[in-house]
Amino acid sequence: MIARLPRASLSVLVLGYFGCVFAGSSATDESASDEVDVTTASDVMVGSFEAGEERYKKSCINCHGAGGKGVASYPKVSGQEISYTKSKLATYRDGIKVGPNSSLMIMMAKPLTDKEIADLAVYLKDATS
Ligand code: HEC
Repeated sequence: MIARLPRASLSVLVLGYFGCVFAGSSATDESASDEVDVTTASDVMVGSFEAGEERYKKSCINCHGAGGKGVASYPKVSGQEISYTKSKLATYRDGIKVGPNSSLMIMMAKPLTDKEIADLAVYLKDATS
């Protein structure tokens, strides 16, 4: 009984480790961003379209263009589900690379608060210009 305990906790650690690896490498796997537990905490926070627009124009528009339409190699970021954008921004904020140019986004997402992420996600869902 006693001898089995460390083995059990090791399995939990290993599972936890792989869970993180998979979460971090889900660039194209959209199902990962639909997981309820990833978004529950921040869904409680209601974002404001106006505040998101203001924040977007301050430091995102230069790369992603007006209304999040995307410019050249900078991806379109509008029209996505709120949970999708929130989880992307939180992933970058955690310093996790998901694509070839993630370092640019990690730098931009680092200073964002949970509220700003919620605001940006609400704005980008319906942003048009
Ligand atoms: C210096 C240019 C630059 C700035 C400024 C910038 N981004 Fe990005 N953004 C990128 C690049 C490049 C990518 C793709 C990164 C990758 O390869 O992982 C990206 C990716 C994203 C994505 C993920 C898109 C997807 O569907 O995978 C979101 C969401 C996003 N940016 C939102 C923002 C927001 C919000 C801001 C402002 C706080 C911002 N970006 C500022 C360059 C920028």
